[in-house]
Amino acid sequence: MEDKTSVIREEFKKRIESVKSSEEIEQLRVEYLGKKGHVQGLMGQLKAVPNEEKKAFGQAVNQLKQEIEKLLHETHEKIEKEEEQKLIDSAEDYDVTLPMDLDKGSYHPITVIQREVEEIFRTMGFTIEDFSEIVDDYNCFEALNIPKHHPARDMQDTYYLSSGQLLKTHTSAAQNSIMKKYGAPLRAIFPGRCFRNESTDACHENTFFQMEGIMIDEDISISNLIYFMKTMLSEVFGQDVNVRLRPGFFPFVEPGFELDIQCLICGGDGCPSCKNSGWLELCPCGMIHPNVLKYGGIDAEKYTGFAFGLGLTRLAMMKYGIKDIRVLNSGNLKSLSQFIGK
Ligand code: PHE
Repeated sequence: MEDKTSVIREEFKKRIESVKSSEEIEQLRVEYLGKKGHVQGLMGQLKAVPNEEKKAFGQAVNQLKQEIEKLLHETHEKIEKEEEQKLIDSAEDYDVTLPMDLDKGSYHPITVIQREVEEIFRTMGFTIEDFSEIVDDYNCFEALNIPKHHPARDMQDTYYLSSGQLLKTHTSAAQNSIMKKYGAPLRAIFPGRCFRNESTDACHENTFFQMEGIMIDEDISISNLIYFMKTMLSEVFGQDVNVRLRPGFFPFVEPGFELDIQCLICGGDGCPSCKNSGWLELCPCGMIHPNVLKYGGIDAEKYTGFAFGLGLTRLAMMKYGIKDIRVLNSGNLKSLSQFIGK
């Protein structure tokens, strides 16, 4: 009986010497200590052993088992250390004193300005709404007092989808849903990407960002509109800005305006940036047309409101001095990050 255990012991010792990986250790463990392993096999022979030898046999098998366990454990630890060392040796050498590669990502100038404007309006009690880029004719036009065949539809070269839906041409497309969702009184802004089938040049893009805002309550007037726009623009530009309103036509506002800001570069004296006029066109706006309020389920006898469609892309260009609008959609990270200095 002694023989049997020593044969297995010797064989095991030879085997474990040539083991090179944790996986091989595991294989050996199964082969020797597993349910169908050699040690268990010896235990199975216990019945056939004469009674007077049973005790010694059992002890011998147990001792063998402990020795195997110990050797497996020691070898495993040794191999783990070796494997770790191999990993360290294979890692590339690097010099921690070298200057760091500071090519980190940065926010897009439009994102930065959008968040800034959102924050300003949030502190003035406006909620920020999100709206789909694919809309239907009703939301983009009809609910805004632009029926089919209305000439105002020509102002916006629309991308139609084969489903009959369209890519929203302006953020005003969300007005109706937001009015229906909240009712009056209401203060909301809704930024979004808009699309128009325009040929592109330094000042025009077929994809651009707007930020729509509406405020509806009893007794809202044009002076409220001027106040909110002036406050917001002064905050964005970090200095007092002068604004002026010129008449503008949009079927969903009455009266409608173009809001200009006095040129921040020449202070109104006239320079190439403002085409010598001293003013820059920034934001169409107006008092919401009673029909639009009605379509939105709001009592037009009781409530009035203003709406504006701030050109976020244009605002970003002005604030960061970006001369070509195409840079903004270029995906060129180097040119985009330089504007926000990050
Ligand atoms: N939606 C208009 C446009 O993009 C702008 C606008 C918004 C005008 C709100 C008036 C009021 O052309």
